[in-house]
Amino acid sequence: MSVAGLLIGTSTKMNLTSSEAERYLGTLRQLVEDVVDCDLFVLPPFTSIWVAREQLAGSNVAWGAQDVHPDEAGAHTGDVSAAMLADLGCRYVEVGHAERRRDYGESDALIAAKTKAVLRHRMIPILCVGEPTEGDSEAAVRFVLRQLGGSLAGISGADRSRLVVAYEPVWAIGAGARPAHPDRVAAVHAGIHAWLRSPDGGGAGARVIYGGSVDPSTAGTLLARAGVDGLFVGRAALDPAHFAAIARAGQEHARLGPIGSRMAS
Ligand code: PGA
Repeated sequence: MSVAGLLIGTSTKMNLTSSEAERYLGTLRQLVEDVVDCDLFVLPPFTSIWVAREQLAGSNVAWGAQDVHPDEAGAHTGDVSAAMLADLGCRYVEVGHAERRRDYGESDALIAAKTKAVLRHRMIPILCVGEPTEGDSEAAVRFVLRQLGGSLAGISGADRSRLVVAYEPVWAIGAGARPAHPDRVAAVHAGIHAWLRSPDGGGAGARVIYGGSVDPSTAGTLLARAGVDGLFVGRAALDPAHFAAIARAGQEHARLGPIGSRMAS
């Protein structure tokens, strides 16, 4: 897999039993085996990470987790540590998804601690940020930069460069929502990239991907925008054929050139 190419992935959220995941991942693996010019990943629930390892080992699709506990081990009933995820071959770990911020009241400080745990175990954090309501894009940039500043407190520049930042406007996620307009996505990604390149951000190498109601009909248009380094897909990817179509859109755009040439100024 390329080190910093386009990144296309999905979290299946709280969907698919392990038996269903086995069928899903087996099908997906075959459908995307020719997509070699961008990085692909699937984040199943904890219960199916071992299934992902069985089904995806040796393939061009990486796997990972949707959450992690910040501590190394101990008395945390029901939680899962970064060491456990690394041991299962996880490459990516999602932190700070809007649904966890909403359902569990996760703060930026907790998300920073989770991000550090992921980095300690040499995995790649996918750090989700996004504004709650659809105001103008300048306000959205201000909001997500505040979240990023809080969620990256105490994390070095070298580690920040290994991150994936997922811009996921809360209002654009989930059933009944629609994706953010590509102009807005480009504007917010430009703001995030500019911050990452600044002394405050200090993570110039980080990739910034977009998530929120992405489907095969919108993937190509979103990927064509400067500063969009990939896509994070929810509902649409529960159909493996749709995930494959989105991955293929990534493959097409990856061939347009290296990531630097797509970066927003
Ligand atoms: P959605 O989810 O594609 O179903 O809107 C996106 C996400 O939460 O990453």
